[in-house]
Amino acid sequence: MDHFIYKDGQLHAEGVPVADIAQAVGTPVYVYSAATLERHYRLFTEALSPMPHLVCFAVKSNSNVAVLKLLGDLGAGMDVVSMGEYLRAKAAGVPGDRIVFSGVGKTRPEIRCVLEGGIRQFNVESEPELMAISAIATELGVTAPIAVRVNPDVDAKTHEKIATGKSENKFGIPIAKARAVYALAASLPGIDVVGIDVHIGSQLTDLAPFEEAYLKVAELTRALRADGHDIRRLDLGGGLGIPYTRSNEVPPLPSDYGALIQRTVGDLGCEIEIEPGRLISGNAGILVSETIYVKEGEGRNFLILDAAMNDLVRPSMYGAHHDIVPVIEPGAGAEAQAFDVVGPVCETGDTFAKGRALPALAAGDLVAFRSAGAYGAVMASEYNTRPMVPEVLVKGDHFAVIRARPTFDEIINRDTIPVWL
Ligand code: LLP
Repeated sequence: MDHFIYKDGQLHAEGVPVADIAQAVGTPVYVYSAATLERHYRLFTEALSPMPHLVCFAVKSNSNVAVLKLLGDLGAGMDVVSMGEYLRAKAAGVPGDRIVFSGVGKTRPEIRCVLEGGIRQFNVESEPELMAISAIATELGVTAPIAVRVNPDVDAKTHEKIATGKSENKFGIPIAKARAVYALAASLPGIDVVGIDVHIGSQLTDLAPFEEAYLKVAELTRALRADGHDIRRLDLGGGLGIPYTRSNEVPPLPSDYGALIQRTVGDLGCEIEIEPGRLISGNAGILVSETIYVKEGEGRNFLILDAAMNDLVRPSMYGAHHDIVPVIEPGAGAEAQAFDVVGPVCETGDTFAKGRALPALAAGDLVAFRSAGAYGAVMASEYNTRPMVPEVLVKGDHFAVIRARPTFDEIINRDTIPVWL
């Protein structure tokens, strides 16, 4: 459920007509709903309430500092994968002891930065990384809390580009090697082994792969404890999928996911961490765009929007589906027409949808891409020197620009011409 609904014939974000935001800020623009973000975060805290837990929002899905502050103020932790994301979480006021640092290639400057600024735990992905963390922690005279990310060799049954839990993927340490790596970790100076980490992929619409992975983690917990390690935290990753279409089968609910966690690892007495991104931010955001032209092609009509693949890359990159809805509610019985929905960027890949049924639309009409709050703005670029798309946060009847559209001067002045040219 989200808070983007039609009221009085117009799409609203909570209490604000989307057209008012487009008028004030221009298009394309991302619009987020504070109430939806909060609701989705709370679904997870409620689902995990029988166990000690921390819900660490996956910052990679939506890293706007205002969004992070909203969630951080509710008590959320953060899962970051770069120094930039760590600094954003800090800028949002989230304390280091609520930030976990994931990612397959943490650099030495990144490791140093988070050890100095405070970190809840490193999710370690390889032996060389473990050695680097130990060396830097020792040099700084601190202890680094670590969990090893294990690769459980589970098929997440999701898009191949976002599956991470198979042995052929680059992530984590093969679960069969885990005991040896934990023994190494325990022998290193500056390292405190606190738990186990696993993340098998994103946009999972079936709970079975989670169950398979978490049962393997439970077994490993017992084995590591028998080896003398004080395993007190389990980081179970993110990945719970969301509905991208209204008609689609409904993915499992956070409450079912919570029950699964309790069933598989709940008896171990560990603190549970999860790292959801998409389920919190995905349906909390829309991308609003204006129709520039409607062009009649041969046997097809093109809806040419002012948003493009640089603003929302998911359709072009993964063939992902986003529902597209008109901002003015179509009248009952309005006839649908098939459109190829495209942006103005000079490549054929700049296509959002083919043959999409939409009501009659004309130049100047606004549309909204739904489910665009996760992996939308964060994956945007300035390709074709199109300014980075701005972001707006709505709360009740208020809205605020939380990232402004840069001016062309700002964009062009970032380049410098060498004196010798
Ligand atoms: N934790 C780790 C270690 C991750 O790699 C990810 C996502 C998450 C948590 C959050 O997963 P979520 O709950 O959001 O599914 N750009 C792609 C998605 C890439 C996901 C990468 N990792 C897309 O647009 O679908």
